[in-house]
Amino acid sequence: MRHSDSLRHSDPLSVLFVCLGNICRSPLAEGIFRHMAEKRGVGERFVVDSAGTAGYHAGEAPDSRAIAVAVNRGLPILDSRARKVTFRDLQQPGLVVAMDQSNLRLLKRLRGRSGQAAVRLMRDYDLDAPGADVPDPYYGGPEGFEEVFRILDRSCRGLLDQLVAQQPERREPSGGD
Ligand code: 4NP
Repeated sequence: MRHSDSLRHSDPLSVLFVCLGNICRSPLAEGIFRHMAEKRGVGERFVVDSAGTAGYHAGEAPDSRAIAVAVNRGLPILDSRARKVTFRDLQQPGLVVAMDQSNLRLLKRLRGRSGQAAVRLMRDYDLDAPGADVPDPYYGGPEGFEEVFRILDRSCRGLLDQLVAQQPERREPSGGD
């Protein structure tokens, strides 16, 4: 079995969300997943990040429409800065989650034979539409961002449920009495 076929990871698990520009879908996914994990009391089990397959927006804050939809839904303001995904991201153990098929193809190519990252499609965790793309909202209106938020919320829930079920709960060492 190739390393990347199973989820090998260090503790905590690295979860990297990837879209094209890293200013709309993946920073929202990062914020939603982190917030959800913290609310469930399992935030310390994950190191959450996001990146883009293109570097057009490197160094920029998330799109103002992504920030607005997050704030409207009670999520803390997204404070990530866009970066391009690196070869190294795919060589390390952990989970890399692509927003669409185009991102997925590029990430698998970047992983090659040597990479240890498990590369997955975001909506494979969306029980309503496994295998579908998270639509790119960049050239549309604010309603597209609302739809993307709902898709990401469902997908993050599915992903977190699966990861929590896979990770045995860690116990504190007993005090000996
Ligand atoms: P994202 O959206 O991949 O969800 O961050 C996009 C952001 C920027 C562009 C395309 C998609 N762009 O062409 O600049």
